[in-house]
Amino acid sequence: MNHKEIIESVRKEFQADSDPFPTTTQEIDALRNKYLGRKGVVANLFGKLSQVELELRPEFGKLLNILKNDISSSFESQVSPSKDQSISIKDYSLPGWEFNSGRQHPLQATLNEIKSIFTGIGFSVAYGPEIDDDFHNFGALNFPPEHPARDMQDTFFIESDIVMRTHTSNVQVHLMEEEEPPLRYIVPGRVYRNESISFKSYCLFHQVEGLYVDKNVSFADHKGMLEFFVNQMFGPKTKMRFRPSFFPFTEPSAEVDIWSEKRGQWLEIMGSGMVDPEVFKSVEIDPDIWSGYAFGMGVERICMLKYEIDDIRLLYQGDLRFLEQF
Ligand code: DAH
Repeated sequence: MNHKEIIESVRKEFQADSDPFPTTTQEIDALRNKYLGRKGVVANLFGKLSQVELELRPEFGKLLNILKNDISSSFESQVSPSKDQSISIKDYSLPGWEFNSGRQHPLQATLNEIKSIFTGIGFSVAYGPEIDDDFHNFGALNFPPEHPARDMQDTFFIESDIVMRTHTSNVQVHLMEEEEPPLRYIVPGRVYRNESISFKSYCLFHQVEGLYVDKNVSFADHKGMLEFFVNQMFGPKTKMRFRPSFFPFTEPSAEVDIWSEKRGQWLEIMGSGMVDPEVFKSVEIDPDIWSGYAFGMGVERICMLKYEIDDIRLLYQGDLRFLEQF
């Protein structure tokens, strides 16, 4: 056999031995050792190089190198990382999965803050019906029969005397019917108005009602409590004022404004007042014994002031580009 035939026969032998290619690590190592090991077939042929005639040596050496590379690469292509767990590599430097963490809706955050301020000074949280009768939403609150709030343009009627509540003040009436004074509650909840939708009004929004009934409650008590709330909510030294106003269910009534340095103007944040004796009478509480104050604020309005949001509709669209800013 000349040198070419010797090399070709080794190639054939390897092909026979590696078809099918072994599957266990042990078999693969044995095959690799047989051909590529220190005392393997290929090393043995390299050892014979010196016995080859001088002028044939370069060619023999070249063919031998090709054979060695071919055998090596057939191991590389067969033994993929998945076939041989011992050489699989985990790349711990790869970037990890990105997780989007959830967060509170600005409206929920505002509501939670309002709740925690009031519960911190002894108010309890109560809830009431969103669909109610005329008596609880209007009548007991001293709205006269022809009051414009009862108009179809302003209120969603379910039946002639059943409405989607237009304010959380209906729960004042429920609370006073159900419990003996003293009472100290806040009432968060949704309210509904038949208004055309714009940047500043929506057909549904949220209010927090407050009601305090006890003996000898004064307007000064009322004012002090709201001052505390405003300073907690909008920061200490926030300027506020009570502006005389009218609500059928409070007497006297006042609207509360806070001063916005940024806008250079007073901004209304809630309505308030001393509970009207007529309201006490309609729930059979004696106004000669009991007195109280009430207030009602729009959560959207406070949220928009606090977070500088200029369109109420943004709070209802669930747009992530908006929500992710909070
Ligand atoms: N119910 C009023 C409204 O929706 C807000 C309000 C004003 C509530 C004065 C009160 C209050 O409890 O005393 O506009």
